Amino acid sequence: MPEILNCFPLTVFKDKLGLPPEYRHQIGQHIIQSCAASKRIGQSASRSWTGDRNGHEFLHMQEPFAPMFKAIHLRIRRYVEALGLDADRFRFQFTRSWGTVSEKGQKIQRHRHNQSHISLAYYPLKGPNSGNIIFHMPDPQNEFTAGLFEPHSQDMGLIKTPNILNSEIVNLPAEEDDIVLFPSKTYHATEPNQTDGPRISISTDIVVTLRESDQVEFVMPDVSKWRSSDGF
Ligand SMILES: [Fe+2]
Repeated sequence: MPEILNCFPLTVFKDKLGLPPEYRHQIGQHIIQSCAASKRIGQSASRSWTGDRNGHEFLHMQEPFAPMFKAIHLRIRRYVEALGLDADRFRFQFTRSWGTVSEKGQKIQRHRHNQSHISLAYYPLKGPNSGNIIFHMPDPQNEFTAGLFEPHSQDMGLIKTPNILNSEIVNLPAEEDDIVLFPSKTYHATEPNQTDGPRISISTDIVVTLRESDQVEFVMPDVSKWRSSDGF
């Protein structure tokens, strides 16, 4: 029998955050109210409201979200440990975090978080069929002829058995209280919300620094060692 060896996989970490329904409802309402009172930059009939572009991108600085970020900290460590890394060597800095509100027909277009290292999506309020998160890998490793894994290949019958080995897109089911972590450089999007209730998610960007940078030439040093050029 031949061996199939899948080299260089993309690992996405998914877990339940385990927050009580009352608390999830509370932070979900917080985001809904922020949305209702804010600007609507980037929002349209087909595009979700995202707090990062509307003045609400620092949820990690707000007390009501502290229990959520405390729970997230543990999942970041588990994600990093799942990759075989020593989580104790790093600090995980929340740099931006914001809510999104997707009403019926709205979705989040494909994007990635270039200024960050690890990103996550958490779903405090999310009904069934309100839209999954989609990961997209342009030019995937197995695509030996450019464009072979794009949707038209299936239409033309070139892909006999659609599966993870011949996909440029992965649709990841996500439910209420799910948290999903992934490298920030990964392209992602959401399906449109097909339900009457809003889908509330929270996105967070994490910059990873070293606790101790002595004898290590990779990874950013600790923020306490940074100094602004206008501070001299
Ligand atoms: Fe995102």
